[in-house]
Amino acid sequence: MKNLLSMEHLSNEEILHILDRAKAFENGEEPKTARTYNVANLFFEPSTRTKTSFEMAERKVGCTVIPFDAGFSSAVKGETMYDTVKTLEMIGIDAVVIRAEEDEYYNELLEGINVAVINAGDGAGQHPSQCLLDLYTIKKEFGTFDGLNVTIVGDISHSRVAKSNATALAKLGANVRFLCPQDWAGDFEAYHSWDEVLEDSDVIMLLRIQHERHTVSKSFSKESYHEQYGLTPKREKMMKSSAIIMHPAPVNRDVEIADELVECERSRIFQQVRNGVYTRMAIVETILKGRE
Ligand code: CP
Repeated sequence: MKNLLSMEHLSNEEILHILDRAKAFENGEEPKTARTYNVANLFFEPSTRTKTSFEMAERKVGCTVIPFDAGFSSAVKGETMYDTVKTLEMIGIDAVVIRAEEDEYYNELLEGINVAVINAGDGAGQHPSQCLLDLYTIKKEFGTFDGLNVTIVGDISHSRVAKSNATALAKLGANVRFLCPQDWAGDFEAYHSWDEVLEDSDVIMLLRIQHERHTVSKSFSKESYHEQYGLTPKREKMMKSSAIIMHPAPVNRDVEIADELVECERSRIFQQVRNGVYTRMAIVETILKGRE
């Protein structure tokens, strides 16, 4: 693998390799890169987890992290993504991690750029590193994906997490279902009632409402969304005893999930964040080694 752009591009073997390396890192194994690489994180959209987690992972695999503040870069003067990345390449950067609001922004980098590109989220397109850490979390829990019922709940059409996970989980043998208002189903067939998915789900993956990507606002109050589509304590009690709750975060408490469930026994929400560091170490190592 020379870049990580979309889960659509990864084979099951490539996915499983990254998950194996994440496990090795969690078990204390040392990274296997041949030299010290220079990396930069270009976040043109806000981020807490992904940016910090990539920086931690890059340092742990022995990279030098060159600071880049998108809001104070020449992008605000109109410099293109291509010219920004080409400039960093000439300065000596080996890999860039990029989050940007345009779907498939990376297409303009596929020709003429020689640094590795890791997609940290493109618009409502893909979020492959979040997907891989979600897969790692599920594999740690169940040991397999085969036959698992994974229910993704919420703003499906605006969510890059939903799309990446739908692609990858289906390829790996899981049964992926969606629960959301019809307006947010996008190209997916969706359920509209918890009754149809609650009791046989192995994983319930909740999503934030992506208000920033809505052109027409769906008329839900926080209370009515929570009542219809939120995971409430009453619904949590009806889940299978072995089922887990996931959420890529940031979480809007008492909207998609009741405040008291965020850290309940079956919630893996903060473990996902921890797993993200091991998974991103595996991603960075795999991409850099793929270019040696
Ligand atoms: N899950 C996720 O992408 O979180 P951030 O927006 O904080 O990076």
